[in-house]
Amino acid sequence: MKMLVIEDELSVRLGISCTLEKAGYKVTAVDNGIDGIRLFEKEHFDVVITDLRLPGADGIEVLKSIKNISTDAGVIIITAFADVKTAVEAMREGAYDYISKPFDPNELLIIIDRFIKHSGLVLENIRLKEEVRDKKEFQCIIGVSSAMQAIFGTIEVVAKTDSSVMIYGESGTGKELVANAIHNLSSRKDKPFIKINCAAIPENLLESELFGHEKGAFTGAVQRRKGKFETATGGTIFLDEIGDMPLALQAKLLRILEDQKFERVGGNESVSVDVRTIYATGKNLKEEVKAGRFREDLYYRLNVLPIVLPSLRERKEDIPLLVEHFMEVFSKKTGKTGLAVSPTAVEMLMSYDYPGNVRELKHAVEMAVTFCRGNIIEPCCLPVEIREMEMGQHRSLICNNLPITEKVKAFERDLLARVLEETGGKKKETAKKLGISRGTLWRKLKDHGFPVSELDLED
Ligand SMILES: Nc1ncnc2c1ncn2[C@@H]1O[C@H](COP(=O)(O)OP(=O)(O)OP(=O)(O)O)[C@@H](O)[C@H]1O
Ligand SMILES: [Mg+2]
Repeated sequence: MKMLVIEDELSVRLGISCTLEKAGYKVTAVDNGIDGIRLFEKEHFDVVITDLRLPGADGIEVLKSIKNISTDAGVIIITAFADVKTAVEAMREGAYDYISKPFDPNELLIIIDRFIKHSGLVLENIRLKEEVRDKKEFQCIIGVSSAMQAIFGTIEVVAKTDSSVMIYGESGTGKELVANAIHNLSSRKDKPFIKINCAAIPENLLESELFGHEKGAFTGAVQRRKGKFETATGGTIFLDEIGDMPLALQAKLLRILEDQKFERVGGNESVSVDVRTIYATGKNLKEEVKAGRFREDLYYRLNVLPIVLPSLRERKEDIPLLVEHFMEVFSKKTGKTGLAVSPTAVEMLMSYDYPGNVRELKHAVEMAVTFCRGNIIEPCCLPVEIREMEMGQHRSLICNNLPITEKVKAFERDLLARVLEETGGKKKETAKKLGISRGTLWRKLKDHGFPVSELDLED
């Protein structure tokens, strides 16, 4: 890891260089912005630590030049305490973080550490993306995880057969997408693809929906009507929520599967069908069998080719690509372009558990794209459940109308208060938890108007 330090104050420059070298980094230090930029043009540095006020080019100019040469380098800005406003501007220009003078060199090490972890993540994502550029999207299904890659393979294989396929998965995992993909890749692709949701149709209507009825079969059956099975002839029928099919109809379905024949409601004539069937359920069918709500013989008949879609929380590595994909979709819809997600928002999106799986993530991105004001999707644009995971009580703070500097201040004050409370007011422990020195803690407490005179920093 190579570090470039740009700082005109000799004592600070030496202090930083010493600490970084001790921590095992290779350090080059200069005392002005112009030399700093020249060096960076010649050599690669992973991290640049630059003072804001410098002779020659100032910190912001240094930052802009560096970001022009390489977007990967982490730039950490050193500011005087009064310069926080400019520091925030620097963050907008792409600085990774800032630290205000005077500071404990260990604080700097913590920031660098965090940057290295963060850039590792970013690089990992880029690598993943390159690796799967061809395979990341399969029939509109996005997935880089090995679980999804395996499912893509299975879909390709089963699509070529006429076998019935059973798709398991929690709500929102993409069961319908998989059913679509199987049909589209099969030889039946130019024939009808008919979907029917067994849970959404009242029991007494489901039979005639599926199999049709003869004229006069029941009150209201004023003429003969084709059912979905007949409409789907030559194509595929997708019976969604099959676990909710009433037992009586399960028997009829079993017969069709065995004989490829059925009768319309109120009729005796046998109708032959050439239809491929795909099923899906969010239920555990085995449990349904045990509970007597699903026929065991039908279960074995349907379970020949099971495809089990993992929940999104079991394949979090798919989240970045899904986010990118949905951002593209909703950018097009809303006409907003050049959007990006802030690192904190990415962290939140990655740490949430998504009980509603991909559908929930899709809605979250739609909401974020719709509500974000600038080009960056910040945590406050995300749905409250996702923000709450990380931010807990800071929710209201993030969404108020204060300018960013005030928000940062208020956030810091809250954080200090909360950690002090957690540690029972023990300053040493508080400083440790916050990753700052006791001196810095004291200064921060004083700045925020905590009654420091009563505080004993030695405990
Ligand atoms: N891997 C994926 N890539 C892209 N979009 C996806 C993916 N998985 C799901 N989606 C999207 O999420 C939404 C939900 O997917 P789908 O309707 O297929 O889920 P489901 O498993 O059938 O859910 P339910 O059980 O609630 O019916 C859809 O808008 C779909 O386009
Ligand atoms: Mg569905």
